[in-house]
Amino acid sequence: MGSFSNYKVAVLFGGASPEYEVSLSSSYNVIKGLLGAGFSVFPIGIDRAGSWFYYYGDIEKIKTDEWQLKDNCSVNIGCSGTKKGVLKIKEDGRFEILDIDVVFAVLHGENGEDGTVQGLLELSGIPYVGCSVLSSNICMNKILTHTVLDAAGIKGTRWRGVMRRDIKNIEFLLEDIAAEFSFPIFTKPSSCGSSVGIRKCKNLKELEDGINFAFKYGDEVICEQFIKGKEVECAVLQTSSSEIKSSAVGQIAGYDDFYDYDSKYKSYAKLIIPANLKDSTTKKVQSIAIKAFEAMRCSGLARVDFFVDDDDEVYVNEINTMPGFTDISMYPKLWEHSGLSYKDLLITLIFVAIKKR
Ligand SMILES: Nc1ncnc2c1ncn2[C@@H]1O[C@H](COP(=O)(O)OP(=O)(O)O)[C@@H](O)[C@H]1O
Ligand SMILES: [Mg+2]
Repeated sequence: MGSFSNYKVAVLFGGASPEYEVSLSSSYNVIKGLLGAGFSVFPIGIDRAGSWFYYYGDIEKIKTDEWQLKDNCSVNIGCSGTKKGVLKIKEDGRFEILDIDVVFAVLHGENGEDGTVQGLLELSGIPYVGCSVLSSNICMNKILTHTVLDAAGIKGTRWRGVMRRDIKNIEFLLEDIAAEFSFPIFTKPSSCGSSVGIRKCKNLKELEDGINFAFKYGDEVICEQFIKGKEVECAVLQTSSSEIKSSAVGQIAGYDDFYDYDSKYKSYAKLIIPANLKDSTTKKVQSIAIKAFEAMRCSGLARVDFFVDDDDEVYVNEINTMPGFTDISMYPKLWEHSGLSYKDLLITLIFVAIKKR
């Protein structure tokens, strides 16, 4: 493929999210990959407080979180009239509209992967890579994800949503859950990621603590039946306006009790590609991944995460609309294994986003 220097891609990195650091390593790799493919890249950093800056400096400093320089120029997304698009705000308050063809928001979790930034981009009229406001928002909420999957006839784990008002009557609630589920039971904040606020509860006391703990991270909590078995993931990619493909299936192994924050980002649990599954189960996972992608109204890309129990029953766990993009992340690794290089994956994502409109 030739050079793509005529295409101007703004990459958003960081973000006011607990997953800020993960975004830095994903973005660093995406920027390097886009530059390697010949695109013109405009890195835009969002600090932990949510301020946006045009970053001119060395991209290596994104990876090490040293990108926040005094002379970074402020950036705004304009949504109105003559101020529509990516605006570079100068010190004297004047602005310049950056000529951008597409935005790649490599942001994970809150304030980035959840539809908020997508809404801003929608209003600004700039095409962007990946899922819409609707699908980003629904996939961020585990209760709504389960609700849509159930309605679409896609099997997930047995679940129960708990609202803050329900804990006024916690004894009744605990009894009710214990009657419907068997221990262990997972408790999770409905709208977090990176395993934040999640506990695996082995008895009523732990269930009560787990629910209270999860409420520290939001107003909705989900309880889920523990599924014993394998944890596998499948990458989905929209390759044109009418074609959606799923990748090889990968397996997560080598974590202790469950795939928590430390095993995700510190000790690096082992990724096994392809997953150790029967051929027929692999095919089933690949086909359900596409069904889930469509049911959630995803576009561009998503990583669909599953549990496969000891009887080869397949359950969707969750759908990530901006999966990790580091060089060791599952999403790009799965495509590499399926014959699509990191570079060609980026090229596909950019062109599907531009042609979408
Ligand atoms: N129902 C379940 N059965 C078995 N393990 C689970 C279940 N729910 C979560 N886990 C474990 O907890 C991890 C994090 O849960 P997950 O729902 O994927 O949250 P997050 O959105 O933070 O990634 C999973 O990767 C898995 O190891
Ligand atoms: Mg997960």
